[in-house]
Amino acid sequence: MTDSPIDSVLEESRTFPPPQHFVDSANQTPADINQLYDAAASDHTGFWATQARHHLDWHQPFSSVLNASDAPFFRWFEDGELNAAYNCLDRHLPERADQTAIIFEGDDGQVENITFQDLFARTCRFANTLKASNIGKGDRVIIYLPNIPQAVVAMLACARIGAIHSVVFGGFSAPAIRDRINDAEARAVITADGNYRGGKLIQLKKTVDEALAEGCDSVETVFVYRRAGIDIDLNSARDVDWDKAVAEQSTQCPPVAVDSEHPLFILYTSGSTGRPKGIYHSTGGYLLGTICTCRWTFDLGERDIFWCTADVGWVTGHSYIAYGPTACGVTQVMFEGVPTYPEPDRLWAMVERHGVSVFYTAPTGIRALMRQGDEYPERHDLTSLRLLGTVGEPINPEAWMWYYRVIGGERCPIVDTWWQTETGAHMITALPSYTTTRPGSVSKPLPGISADILDESGERVETANAGGYLVIRQPWPSMLRGIWGDPERYRETYFGLFDSFTYVAGDSAQRDADGNFRILGRTDDVVNVSGHRLGTMEVESALVAHKSVSEAAVVGRPHDVKGEAIVAFVILQANASADNLADELREWVSKQLGAIAKPEEIRFTDGLPKTRSGKIMRRLVRSVARGDEITQDTSTLENPQIVKQLQAEGH
Ligand code: WTA
Repeated sequence: MTDSPIDSVLEESRTFPPPQHFVDSANQTPADINQLYDAAASDHTGFWATQARHHLDWHQPFSSVLNASDAPFFRWFEDGELNAAYNCLDRHLPERADQTAIIFEGDDGQVENITFQDLFARTCRFANTLKASNIGKGDRVIIYLPNIPQAVVAMLACARIGAIHSVVFGGFSAPAIRDRINDAEARAVITADGNYRGGKLIQLKKTVDEALAEGCDSVETVFVYRRAGIDIDLNSARDVDWDKAVAEQSTQCPPVAVDSEHPLFILYTSGSTGRPKGIYHSTGGYLLGTICTCRWTFDLGERDIFWCTADVGWVTGHSYIAYGPTACGVTQVMFEGVPTYPEPDRLWAMVERHGVSVFYTAPTGIRALMRQGDEYPERHDLTSLRLLGTVGEPINPEAWMWYYRVIGGERCPIVDTWWQTETGAHMITALPSYTTTRPGSVSKPLPGISADILDESGERVETANAGGYLVIRQPWPSMLRGIWGDPERYRETYFGLFDSFTYVAGDSAQRDADGNFRILGRTDDVVNVSGHRLGTMEVESALVAHKSVSEAAVVGRPHDVKGEAIVAFVILQANASADNLADELREWVSKQLGAIAKPEEIRFTDGLPKTRSGKIMRRLVRSVARGDEITQDTSTLENPQIVKQLQAEGH
């Protein structure tokens, strides 16, 4: 065991070189990629300037590439002007007018194809509708819609007139919407009457009314799209019916050219504590990040049908539904429903039905579907797939192998993409025609991304497989520009630990001898057992590798002798029994990771507290394990009742 800040004990030795058939048909040859790396290494800003000129259409070209005079407040391409909606729509016309932009599948299975021409016309009409309500450049607009094409239309319409959107995930409650409206001082809300997910009605308008019933004085207009066709209260002084309003508007709306640094959107992170954190992004730099990564990581091109299963309410849905694929002129699938409705084969049925070639989802979803059994994917022909991606949390090697074998037919490379709401686009990831992948490793930083690992004193961690703080040492175009209304919090949170050029991601990571990164978890997800700091994700990975375990959350609890002891909360596979399993699992972890990582206690449960985006809230689990009183707001959890249940189970 080394004395590095975070010790890693999990070994993974399987490797998967890029398949030759993939390399032969990829947009980027390995030589192209080497060139990108060389260019970025020899001239960081020059490299990004070249990319920005190549990938974006500018109304006014930029001459300044990076202004770092007020670090950490960086400005990219600041004297350039462009419009994001123009880059996502107009520039594909008329060449791609009849090409499908979005294949939309509703919860009920109805399919609608929307061409680039349609998407353009709908966006212009809705942009004109916003203008008719006096919304313009710089105004903030909350979008609270289901995962339907109108959400993309609403986002692009805001971008077209320079308004700043802030999408709030359709599962959030009225108080969460209210906080975001007030923090952003939004002038309008765009919502729907309601919609069905997994056959269940979600009443969006009612929730917005509840939010607006107290405070929220900034809101003047509420646009309501009729999705569910249910009865709702309409306030004639405030509410505007989407369909009626757009019918009166023209299908042409000139794009407003904005400065490259003009905020494109605010997105509130579902942080585990405190006030909402309004991460905001720029127009030019952000868009560039999404385009480059769609090309590099996903190898997207004309031949593809892309499907990112995220909701537009999360950053993944911003970068890889609303902006990246549209800016690249790529056809994509958008889905309103849930993976298990009407049956657990829904995603695989859709891959077959729509001929999806590049598929992007999260480990939590992969594990949930893996748990359902192979029979569901086996019902479908998945041979249209050529590339698989994952994001959001570390993927344990078992889930990786299942994804590779059962979904990808041992034919498709897997790109495990590390990035954050704050980074705007992929940062560390495999490149499918280039990288030899390893289950559980996110491979290497992309060209132009200077990711590194530092120890507590800011020294680079040189020892292979020793852990430390994951940082980015130079600014990059798609980085966040700030926390809305709170520049000091931005500086402290992301640049407070080392210096004003070193972005601190808040994750711990390690690097192997070949320079491949592995994410160990958030820096606060670390247990210190007898002086050895262990990433809790590693222990979780070991647990879920056991045949009886479906999911696990590992936290530390104070211990007299060891400093901290490991407590594991374990969800079993559908037909596994807990009898005599606790000791077996403790031995299992010990065998996989070493005695140091052996859990002190295993608690079986049938649920864990999760955020709406599927992340386990370890802070809450930790409080339960320690028997602490829970003071934090749990209303934004996917399953708020689980906390009481876990507490009760502990007694
Ligand atoms: C985690 C989602 C391991 C990480 C795009 C990060 C990952 C946080 C990965 C950001 C990955 C994301 N492997 N961990 N491939 N991708 N994470 O802001 O802890 O919702 O800091 O953005 O998710 O989550 P966010």
